[in-house]
Amino acid sequence: MIQINKNITALKESATLKINQEVKQLRNIGKEVFHFGFGQSPFPIHQSIVKALTDNATCNHYLPTNGLPALKNSISLFLSKHQNITYDADSIFIGPGSKEFLYQIILLLEGVFLIPQASWVSYLPQILSKGAKHQIIPTAFKNNYKLEAQSLKKYCEIHKQVQKTLILNSPNNPTGAVYNDDELKAIANVCKAYQVIVLSDEIYSQINFTNNCAPSIAKYYPENTLVFGGLSKVFSAGGYRLGFVAIPKSLDELYNPLQALISETFSSVSAPIQYAAVKAFNFDKDVKNYVTDSTVILKGIAKYIYDELTENNIICTKPQGAFYMLIDFENYRKALSNLKINNASDLTTYLLANHNIALLPGSDFYFNEETLTCRLATVDFDGEKVYCAFKMSPIIDAEFIKQHTPNIYKGLIVLNTFLNHLK
Ligand SMILES: Cc1ncc(COP(=O)(O)O)c(C=O)c1O
Repeated sequence: MIQINKNITALKESATLKINQEVKQLRNIGKEVFHFGFGQSPFPIHQSIVKALTDNATCNHYLPTNGLPALKNSISLFLSKHQNITYDADSIFIGPGSKEFLYQIILLLEGVFLIPQASWVSYLPQILSKGAKHQIIPTAFKNNYKLEAQSLKKYCEIHKQVQKTLILNSPNNPTGAVYNDDELKAIANVCKAYQVIVLSDEIYSQINFTNNCAPSIAKYYPENTLVFGGLSKVFSAGGYRLGFVAIPKSLDELYNPLQALISETFSSVSAPIQYAAVKAFNFDKDVKNYVTDSTVILKGIAKYIYDELTENNIICTKPQGAFYMLIDFENYRKALSNLKINNASDLTTYLLANHNIALLPGSDFYFNEETLTCRLATVDFDGEKVYCAFKMSPIIDAEFIKQHTPNIYKGLIVLNTFLNHLK
């Protein structure tokens, strides 16, 4: 028997990637599946970014460990122009996805990690994999499951001595919620008072349904906020695997250890991808308009889903950005228990097995096992076709959904029919 690090053997495969594999397998054997389980951008990569990639396909040399200078520059400008935050080029590091950088920064920081309830599935496994301590901070539906400054303060007040790192994500996966400036200011004030380090996961920043970008806590607490972003969501290029972390000068103690870690692990991100990313982050008018149109489409589809489900007595978080919402079947608890469904895991297993509907249970996002809360992803459609249809006629109504996002349309009918039978 070989000995394996127990922190790692205790982990299970990422729930989001697992459900995607399961759905792929079902589709491969010819099953029609309504895939509300996985949040990948459905839109094609803008062709100018693809061109920059192919133009640079012959670049076969290693780039500097912390990234291509031109890319660090263009991200720095992008952050100031399109995310309203200031980070110099030399405070930006380039890595193979923001997920990898979240992991490396978690590895570097000592102390306890604070995760608001209703956060992304991978934060906790990353923390557990190094055997670190964590605390889930409770949140409430009435606030769209956003962290409230008071709840953070309550924890900080009784844990003054230990170094604390808060992981904050807006626009949020799994709720679709976006923090407003006042909420961020209030959280920043608590963080300032208790010297909390903030890992601000802004991977969905421009996929915000009200303004061009979601507000960042870095505006109110620049000295202790690390910002994470990348190509995966805004630029529809998850498979390119490129992300960044911006670390303020006031935390420059992190620069050398991070650079050492990069040099001893992935060395540097693929050179052609970095050149393509320069094009993306330059955010020329055509790329910017494409992101804006895609976001309007996502907003229209999320609104349709929200309206359909709330009409049928499902409690939903209000989608304000990203690709998700939380949906709660609590109003059907009694009827569901007759089917021996008593929690969200039972429910998601039942819905996939019996109605080909893929959702994820809220327990993957730090909810109690007993709740009937599930995460719904809103992106099971052909982005290219939907984008063309939208350019011809930009009204996203029931007819548009029926015609251009048939999986979503049908999936909701199947789900609502199931619920109507329960009544
Ligand atoms: C909230 C959140 N953060 C980070 C990531 C990771 O993104 P990347 O592809 O840059 O690793 C995801 C991807 O699903 C996400 O939803």
